[in-house]
Amino acid sequence: MIMGYLKLANYKVLSFDKISSTQTYAHDMIAQGNARDHTAITALAQFAGHGRYRRPWVSHHGNLYVSFIFDSEHRDPRLAYVVAVAIVDTLLSFGISSEIKWPNDILIDGKKVAGVLIEYSGRFVIVGIGINVKSNPTVSEYETTKLENYANVELTDLFQMLTKNLDKWMVCDFELVRDAWMTAATGLNKMAKYRGKNVELIGINDNGALIVRENGEYHLVHGDEISM
Ligand code: BTN
Repeated sequence: MIMGYLKLANYKVLSFDKISSTQTYAHDMIAQGNARDHTAITALAQFAGHGRYRRPWVSHHGNLYVSFIFDSEHRDPRLAYVVAVAIVDTLLSFGISSEIKWPNDILIDGKKVAGVLIEYSGRFVIVGIGINVKSNPTVSEYETTKLENYANVELTDLFQMLTKNLDKWMVCDFELVRDAWMTAATGLNKMAKYRGKNVELIGINDNGALIVRENGEYHLVHGDEISM
């Protein structure tokens, strides 16, 4: 059941108490022809939240779960960086410094605090964002943390600041996004594993591909799994 419907700046916001997944809801809205640009679906909890590679995203009450729907005629790999930078900027406005692990995992003290799932459907893109505020799950693959360990952050303030920063960074020159991303990125100039090989992370190019170096040769990586 929809709990609330409000207009926030230029967003139409649908808020739920608990649903399966804001991301799934966004997909359904698009499939039913009910979606439009700048729609945000939020939930206080999800019972089937999921992340990249269909990994579960544990979604207890107290954290931020939101999926944004934006117009997008084409896939744009640069969006991953825009979203990451918008989240880092948002956390900074609460006095919290964070880092980005390529392409858009957000870490504090090396522990994951937020994740982003970008999916395309029809003429839209869905940007799903989960930020641990009051609780952080135990995950076997990586360490996690929550904002509450660093500052007192109200969910509504966090959400509003996030919408503001998404709007700000989405209309920015990609040069600026790239600079901000490179400043916040962790692991640059360090070794990482890519498809079982040892590579050095160099940066991102104009089109949003990751540049890696392997045995002196440069390669471009698009949306793949890099482990550091
Ligand atoms: C990841 O790091 O793997 C991405 C996690 C994305 C989680 C968010 S929470 C809101 C939205 N609804 C979902 O089911 N997933 C995304």
